[in-house]
Amino acid sequence: MKKIPSGVYGLNPLMAGGINQGSTNVVIGSAGAGKTTFATQFIRRGLEDGQEAIFISLDENKEQIVKEAVEMGWTEILDYIDQELLVFIDASGKDFSRFIREELPAFVDQWKEANARIVVDPLTPVIWSVQDRYEQRDLLSFLFKQTRRVGTVVCTLEEHNPRGDLSGSEVVIPMYLADGVIHLRHRAAEDTPSRKLKIAKCRSSRHSELYHPYHIMKGLGMVVERGDFKTSAETTAPEEIKRLLKDRARVLPPRVYKRILKALDELTDRDFKDISPDEMVDIIIAEYER
Ligand SMILES: Nc1ncnc2c1ncn2[C@@H]1O[C@H](COP(=O)(O)OP(=O)(O)OP(=O)(O)O)[C@@H](O)[C@H]1O
Ligand SMILES: [Mg+2]
Repeated sequence: MKKIPSGVYGLNPLMAGGINQGSTNVVIGSAGAGKTTFATQFIRRGLEDGQEAIFISLDENKEQIVKEAVEMGWTEILDYIDQELLVFIDASGKDFSRFIREELPAFVDQWKEANARIVVDPLTPVIWSVQDRYEQRDLLSFLFKQTRRVGTVVCTLEEHNPRGDLSGSEVVIPMYLADGVIHLRHRAAEDTPSRKLKIAKCRSSRHSELYHPYHIMKGLGMVVERGDFKTSAETTAPEEIKRLLKDRARVLPPRVYKRILKALDELTDRDFKDISPDEMVDIIIAEYER
């Protein structure tokens, strides 16, 4: 899985190096959680790396988004727009269904294989534009498939469930369809406002399961704390399993042995926290022993 840096400070080590290239991702959060900030940083990082970027806005107009980006300290955004490396599509007020089914495919045809970064901010009006749940799913699935042809996608999604447990009906379908889901849990109403980020889903990749405090800082944007997440690979358990396995490897077909060694290279102590190396080896051997 090829990873690309997210552009959000501190986030990449929590998801095995960054966002999966060519994937569709959803950033979920309540009002003011930092969804647009996240999306802007994702795009900024791509532009800094020489990738092109497309910002599809369904809510605020281009001027407003640019103004907020400049206020956050990203003045270069104006140069990228001038050079047409960053393109805005203002779909606010449009018939979203028609926009996605008719206008978007024509646009995608011009940009396909561009390996660009695409943002849709926010996805919520698309979901609200159709009543039927099946149609919602179909429309979102179509949107994801189309945008993915252009590159790596980040969509933002409003969260209206005050419990903040991702059970709201507006988030369920996009969560299923997306390859990655990041939850920005923002509690503004409490005495001490708190912001915590959790990676709820990241297909084909190991990731932190913890809540990580994050901050929004002028000039930098979103900065995520590492907390207790161990990023330096701790591999004593996988190494021990390899050692024990070597002595009993004659039971394993060579191709299986090779595959298991390769799998162990990707795992760390966290994966074996509830099972001892001895037990793990017994289980593997028992499967192939005759
Ligand atoms: N110029 C700035 N300087 C410092 N902090 C800022 C600045 N602009 C925004 N913020 C902070 O970032 C927070 C998140 O803003 P952002 O627009 O990214 O949220 P959002 O989740 O997209 O909100 P909405 O649901 O309204 O679209 C703001 O509430 C504010 O605290
Ligand atoms: Mg926003």
